[in-house]
Amino acid sequence: MSTLEAFVSGLPKAELHLHIEGSLEPEQMFEFARRNGVSLPYESVADIRAAYEFSDLQDFLDIYYTGMNVLLTEQDFYELTEAYLRRVAGDAVRHVEIFFDPQAHTSRGVEFETVINGVTRALKFVGHELGISSKLIMCFLRHLSEEDAFNALASAEPFLHMIDGVGLDSSELGHPPSKFANVFSRATELGLKKVAHAGEEGPAEYVYEAIDILKVDRIDHGNRSLESEVLVKRLAEEQIALTVCPLSNLKLRVVSRLQDHPMKSMLDAGLLATINSDDPSYFGGYINDNYTRLATALELTEGDLVQCAKNSFTGSFLPSEKVKQFHSEIDSYASRKHT
Ligand code: ADE
Ligand code: ZN
Repeated sequence: MSTLEAFVSGLPKAELHLHIEGSLEPEQMFEFARRNGVSLPYESVADIRAAYEFSDLQDFLDIYYTGMNVLLTEQDFYELTEAYLRRVAGDAVRHVEIFFDPQAHTSRGVEFETVINGVTRALKFVGHELGISSKLIMCFLRHLSEEDAFNALASAEPFLHMIDGVGLDSSELGHPPSKFANVFSRATELGLKKVAHAGEEGPAEYVYEAIDILKVDRIDHGNRSLESEVLVKRLAEEQIALTVCPLSNLKLRVVSRLQDHPMKSMLDAGLLATINSDDPSYFGGYINDNYTRLATALELTEGDLVQCAKNSFTGSFLPSEKVKQFHSEIDSYASRKHT
């Protein structure tokens, strides 16, 4: 293990941008397909991995929605979430705020209740065993209508005690945040936190809409914010967190090389930028792979990585006392020697 890998491996961190369906590993996809009698358009695990070459976000989403067809029972959602938690416990992840896409399941006849019960049971019991706390965010699929999002929110109402926030994901271009103004306003009335993918492929204008119209608490991705100096100033002043996903950006060709990734510029501008994995099984790495590969490509210092780890707690929905505790744990970790 290199010095960098050793430092990252024990650095306490939170993951704030993780689609649980995007943590479905090919081996598990085959297992669920077999036990549920679902046919897959792949012959083998190697065949699946070979299909994971994407030209853009939509190209990925088509494969992502096909992959999740194998998820049918509460046990599937439990095991999916359990596998993710066990994987990242080894990456010193101490807190997760995970997304799920209820409409991608209810549209296939899987009940909202089946999905949320499986995911939350694992978050509670496996999270407790591993010492990982969690929040759960349900995302609206932006390629569908606002009316469809309202229906999803109505299905969620009996389970609001299990849900911390709403998000907005799927095909960004042509589906601006303003399309969901009313349903986000309803989410505010219900006391939910709000986040939205913006500025991944879409323009800086979408980031403005997410902040000013949806009134989000943080921005998922946000890369293209850097195209507007005024927006960067605002994000810095208001310390609005960005949940940045380096390997996702590389695989979806938001950047052509990791050396061109904007994370260093974000940190230099004083943005509350965090490092996350997005859909790790599709993008070739979990959170620590994102930290180490980005640090190598951009020559980030241990100080930069400490800043990112601290930002992950500052930008989380944890209470401020917890955030302070994690910050001091990070400080004491960083002051020790790592080999
Ligand atoms: N759904 C899963 N991953 C996503 C991403 N990176 N952008 C938009 N929607 C997604
Ligand atoms: Zn995402």
